Amino acid sequence: MNITILVTGAAGYIGSHTCFELLDRGYNVVAVDNLVNGNREALQRVKEVTGNDIHFFKADLRDASTLERIFEEQPIDAVIHFAGYKAVGESVEDPLLYYSNNVSASVTLLSVMKEYDIYNIVFSSSCTVYGKPESVPVKETDSMAPTNPYGRSKLMVEEILRDSYKALPSLSVSILRYFNPIGAHPSGRIGEDPDGIPNNLLPYVSRVAAGQLEELKIFGDNYDTHDGTGVRDYIHVMDLARAHISALEELLNGSGSNCKTYNLGTGKGYSVLDVVKAFEQVSNREVPYKITDRRPGDIDKTFADPTKANKQLGWTAQKELKEMCQDMWYWQQQNPNGYSN
Ligand code: NAD
Ligand code: WQD
Repeated sequence: MNITILVTGAAGYIGSHTCFELLDRGYNVVAVDNLVNGNREALQRVKEVTGNDIHFFKADLRDASTLERIFEEQPIDAVIHFAGYKAVGESVEDPLLYYSNNVSASVTLLSVMKEYDIYNIVFSSSCTVYGKPESVPVKETDSMAPTNPYGRSKLMVEEILRDSYKALPSLSVSILRYFNPIGAHPSGRIGEDPDGIPNNLLPYVSRVAAGQLEELKIFGDNYDTHDGTGVRDYIHVMDLARAHISALEELLNGSGSNCKTYNLGTGKGYSVLDVVKAFEQVSNREVPYKITDRRPGDIDKTFADPTKANKQLGWTAQKELKEMCQDMWYWQQQNPNGYSN
């Protein structure tokens, strides 16, 4: 096999795990990242663990001429597009940053792809496009009403991809709506390394378990859920990485152009307290917590109906919450300071 995949945002959390999976399956990887939120060391470790090389370009997707040079030099067959910003609160404070980096950068990428006749793209969307779901489990056909600029930037790129697909008969698009990715590669060599105090639950919990943060603040215990705390569909990042390969192969092997959208989740919802309990069990550490006010904008519960991806991609999430926490804990123990050990 001699197929080359351009991965944008390759040095980030999900991008680096997907690069591992691509190399492991025999694909060539061309990685692009401006390293604003990614780490060169992540790609270095992917190379070490797989024993394969990655052609890395430190570049910003908004820089069309650099992208053109990369497409000119590299024999690219398809693109997996992870690059972007993802912090909900920051997007409320600085929406233009999000529309520029998530929407404009995607338009630049698509324009350069068109210029070089590259017509296969897998795009990282998010369950956040649904906003507060009308019912659970959430289906791909449910209504979408994102509640913040980050979510709207994801929906805008989805719409741009759908419009481009209608206008360009050769384009093949796979839009993947991830639920809550957590966990790390089981080797303990690659994982999530957020800057500063984490916003998301699992990185926060793992630092509390490690004693780096004092206690978890649980944002509300009066939601309409089995124990009052928020319920989410947590999915192991390696299951997610595998789903990208399935989506890519559907594009590469499919007959004719296509534009598909898939929910990627396990289909199961766990509460914050369920997560705390699971983490305490696997780490054999206490995770002290206190209940605080609700976080503005949070919803009570969401989880995916992943049936479409199960049937059409032949993909199912395999790892349970316990294994997700175990891999996260192993990563935390092996890398107490993330990649800057
Ligand atoms: P991440 O921040 O770890 O990775 C994103 C990478 O993109 C970073 O390495 C960053 O340096 C790079 N990047 C950002 N802007 C760039 C630009 N203009 N040019 C080049 N590189 C740029 O995030 P992640 O968790 O790996 O998420 C990957 C994608 O998945 C994002 O698009 C995110 O919105 C989406 N997503 C993430 C989650 C989640 O909870 N992690 C959930 C749903 C969707
Ligand atoms: C999970 C649960 C919190 C931290 C985010 C993005 C979303 C998507 C997925 C990218 C909630 C509770 C959290 C803490 C807590 N990402 N919590 N104390 O909010 O479901 O979604 O990631 O597309 O767009 O918004 O994930 O991990 O922040 O929260 O009690 O310190 O944990 O209230 O119930 P969320 P999360």
